Amino acid sequence: MAAALILLTFLLPLGAGAEEIIGGHEVKPHSRPYMAFISFVKDEGTSGLCGGFLVKENFVLTAAHCRGSSMSVILGAHNISIREKTQQIIPVAKAIPHPDYNPNDDSSDIMLFKLERKAKRTRAVRPLRLHKSNFHVKPGDVCYVAGWGMLDPMGKFPDTLHAVELRVQRDQVCESRFPHRYNKATAICVGDPKIKRASFTGDSGGPLVCKNRAAGIVSFGPKNGSAPCVFTRVSSFLSWIEEMMKRS
Ligand SMILES: *[C@@H]1O[C@H](CO)[C@@H](O)[C@H](O)[C@H]1NC(C)=O
Ligand SMILES: *[C@@H]1O[C@H](CO)[C@@H](O)[C@H](O)[C@H]1NC(C)=O
Repeated sequence: MAAALILLTFLLPLGAGAEEIIGGHEVKPHSRPYMAFISFVKDEGTSGLCGGFLVKENFVLTAAHCRGSSMSVILGAHNISIREKTQQIIPVAKAIPHPDYNPNDDSSDIMLFKLERKAKRTRAVRPLRLHKSNFHVKPGDVCYVAGWGMLDPMGKFPDTLHAVELRVQRDQVCESRFPHRYNKATAICVGDPKIKRASFTGDSGGPLVCKNRAAGIVSFGPKNGSAPCVFTRVSSFLSWIEEMMKRS
């Protein structure tokens, strides 16, 4: 079942919405033990792939636009084309998209997955901590994003986890690129437009890691794989995340 899903992910065309790493590099295997590979089936029947990250033994945080049917999470993966001994494949018991998520402008693009069972903590599987509400990223801050998304706009997918270093931009950069769509209260503008580095198709839902904690979630970006990209601002949703984890 899980193997079939993985196969589907690679055989079927991927639509827009899922965001890959442009201008990055393959990471040292399992150096980002919080990373989750998410596969799902979209309404139109095609398969989707997203990133996500473990925030608690039984909770994964991702983007709300990564919702579909047959959602499944693989933790502890590096090469997603093989069944590595480190991998833990866990079905999603409950998907909790943010109630304010709007697919038309991707506002509040955040979703929690409650897993069917707790992940086992290993050297390859460990949660990522979130920044406290009083932590704010600033323009110029150096952060990292990782994913199994496309390596170039031609649609080449890697089978191993890639990562890239990106700088936080001023809100005005995204306000002018994405008018009426970028909201600085709930989003972060990331990636220097002058540098060929970005998150892209397939990276959606992955964490923006700044100072070793999650500050953002890959949401959307230009269709040609350039920067800047828009990330969901995790600090704006901390109380919702805590409440949902307590309630579920
Ligand atoms: C991942 O695994 C596949 C299948 O064994 C292999 O063909 C491929 O070369 C591996 N990728 C990397 C980057 O090691
Ligand atoms: C990519 O598209 C954006 C508009 O969405 C444009 O401003 C930018 O110049 C393009 N970049 C490249 C490298 O083609």
